[in-house]
Amino acid sequence: MLFDTHVHLNAHQYKEDVNEVIKRAKNEGISTMVVVGFDEETIKGALSLAEEHEFIYAAVGWHPVDAIDFNETHLTWLEELSNHPKVVALGEMGLDYHWDKSPREVQKEVFRQQIRLARKVQLPIIIHNREASQDIVTILQEEKAEEVGGIMHCFGGSLDIAKQCMAMNFYISFGGPVTFKNAKKPKEVAKEIPLDRLLIETDCPYLAPHPYRGKRNEPAYVKLVAEQIAELRGMTVEEIANITTENGKKLFGIY
Ligand code: NI
Repeated sequence: MLFDTHVHLNAHQYKEDVNEVIKRAKNEGISTMVVVGFDEETIKGALSLAEEHEFIYAAVGWHPVDAIDFNETHLTWLEELSNHPKVVALGEMGLDYHWDKSPREVQKEVFRQQIRLARKVQLPIIIHNREASQDIVTILQEEKAEEVGGIMHCFGGSLDIAKQCMAMNFYISFGGPVTFKNAKKPKEVAKEIPLDRLLIETDCPYLAPHPYRGKRNEPAYVKLVAEQIAELRGMTVEEIANITTENGKKLFGIY
């Protein structure tokens, strides 16, 4: 039993074979997954997959890279979608200082608006962080994100940042990078954080774990992430699978 908490089966990379990818995930023991939408098209894709498959849930939000395109209508739409029975979180949202399509001030404002919405509708949030850890922590604190909590997705920050996020009811989720040989920091954090804060994901089609690094990723590979964390912590893969599945269900309110 594995829970892949962050997939983009709504991405164009799966246009040809999404049903086979889903079948492979089931065969590998993936019992639950959350398809994450990050703009108009992918939000619609996440919803239709969640409606079609019992074991698939959806998260809806606006990516910081595209913050410049976000408007009031989108915010209202997200609020409506929060009532959808398969929508379990808002996101992904956050800050991305790697790409410069959207100015940082615009990203921050769109991030704040989505946190406020999450508090209003009482859903957890999924955070995308690229080279912006300190500003993310500050905004989460200022906007009282601890009221809803959520996930630091594909975490690559320090143990200190992880602790600050856990103090605000966030879970720390690890993806493919934790399996990379040179990934010292993610390995260290994955080893140290409390088990009741641990989640796993693929973020597919991106960031495929070793030995598929550089190839298209898919949910079936989340097992490799679980195996890596089990090895780091001296536990069995079944233990890590069960713990992370229970954590995910609790956070998203899936029973
Ligand atoms: Ni993502």
